[in-house]
Amino acid sequence: MLKSIRLRLTITYLLLIVTVMVVTGLVLLNMLEQYYLASEEENLERTGRLAADLMAGYMQDGADAVMLSGVAENFSRQINARVVIVNRHMLVVGDSVHLGGLLGTKMDRPEVEGALQGEIGRSTQYSHLSEQWVMQVAVPIAEGGDPLGAVFLSASLNTVYETLGAIFRFLVLSTVVAVLLAGGLSIIFSHHLTKPIKELTQAARRMAEGNLDQNIPATSGDEIGQLAQQFNIMAAKVKEMNQRLTRFVADVSHELRTPLTSIHVCLQSLQNYDMGPEEQKEFLQDINQETQRLIYLVEDLLDLTRRQEVADKRELFSLNEVLNDVLEVVVPRAERKGLSFFTDIADNLPSLNLSPEALKRVLFNLLDNAIKFTPSGGWLKFSAKYSNNEVCIAVQDTGCGIPEEALPHLFERFYRVDKARSREMGGTGLGLAICKEIVELYGGKIAVESREGEGSTFYLTLPLEGRPGA
Ligand SMILES: Nc1ncnc2c1ncn2[C@@H]1O[C@H](COP(=O)(O)OP(=O)(O)OP(=O)(O)O)[C@@H](O)[C@H]1O
Ligand SMILES: [Mg+2]
Repeated sequence: MLKSIRLRLTITYLLLIVTVMVVTGLVLLNMLEQYYLASEEENLERTGRLAADLMAGYMQDGADAVMLSGVAENFSRQINARVVIVNRHMLVVGDSVHLGGLLGTKMDRPEVEGALQGEIGRSTQYSHLSEQWVMQVAVPIAEGGDPLGAVFLSASLNTVYETLGAIFRFLVLSTVVAVLLAGGLSIIFSHHLTKPIKELTQAARRMAEGNLDQNIPATSGDEIGQLAQQFNIMAAKVKEMNQRLTRFVADVSHELRTPLTSIHVCLQSLQNYDMGPEEQKEFLQDINQETQRLIYLVEDLLDLTRRQEVADKRELFSLNEVLNDVLEVVVPRAERKGLSFFTDIADNLPSLNLSPEALKRVLFNLLDNAIKFTPSGGWLKFSAKYSNNEVCIAVQDTGCGIPEEALPHLFERFYRVDKARSREMGGTGLGLAICKEIVELYGGKIAVESREGEGSTFYLTLPLEGRPGA
């Protein structure tokens, strides 16, 4: 029940309006009733006093019932109320109503009793006889503190309640009109409010169904507009990630297929042709080489997925020691290829708090590339310095260099300038991508400067301050 925001909003508005109208109406009616009754009472009292002053004179002069009734009738006409005069024994000595009046009867009523004791008696009650609400006031008639009798006035409250009834009907009508108007307006308003939410829901549903190309109009600057904007950003990111994932899977499959096809061809040849042991050995060597390449590829892929795990294994180590470990392995390899190796390592290098294995992985790949892509007779230079709270490492070579158009793609996964040549050398094209991911995880940067045919320099910067977890 009440599942839609639109319905809930409309009902809330309507309840609000009805509540406000009912409360305001009740307060207003109550105030008006008090006001009308007070002014009616004041009117009766004022007339009663006037009549009492006049009656005091007449009664002292011994005026008879006809005379007193005549005066009472005059007052009665002025204020539209019944006027009765009683003497000090509560006997009616004058009545504005002649026919069927109370003349001669005893008016034993609390208001009259009160008036005979010098107070003004008041009451408002429902008269079953005339079937209406009446207000009664009794004013004492006195002369020099001596009670002579009382003037009793009784007025119908019909006009008051009729007026209040008319106001009540008007209020009910206004409430109905307000509810209809507010209902209509709130339906329009809530439609505008919930329209973008509906669009968002539909777009999210379409995304869940696999259609990632979603962009909804975010026209308003309010919370819903901001939500729509964020949704569009999220949708674009999801789409981009999906495209990257698809490309990655395609690249991986492609990379796996090449060595697997070679292995398959070698195995088929071994199976189908009669060969001498020498030839068989060659084929087996090829299979071994391709299998090795597959192992490297899978290891690199695992490194890519585990990079966060690797980067999280932090420990404090001396950078100088790690660089020495790396060079101990790499320098002999370079020299074996006929390359000269120069180093320029500052001895004030700081200790770092990151994974030494991850750092070695980066350095090995940069140095491995430098050796791989520099023909014998060339030279390499490895330098490391520390300044401005940053460690800067550079790997320079005099190798084949990298063409300018290839530079922006160098750190992309599976990118190789010369695919065939690089594959021949056993490269998967993942090395630099892994380096970049690791370095950036530690808040560092990796860059390259290269000129085709002259050589390349790779720069690595690792911040000491402000690095995550430092
Ligand atoms: N020092 C360099 N000199 C010339 N070209 C380079 C150098 N370093 C990298 N490259 C180019 O960049 C490409 C990408 O390098 P990367 O290290 O990512 O892959 P790879 O060395 O081919 O394979 P892997 O590192 O996975 O074994 C290389 O194939 C090569 O074309
Ligand atoms: Mg490499």
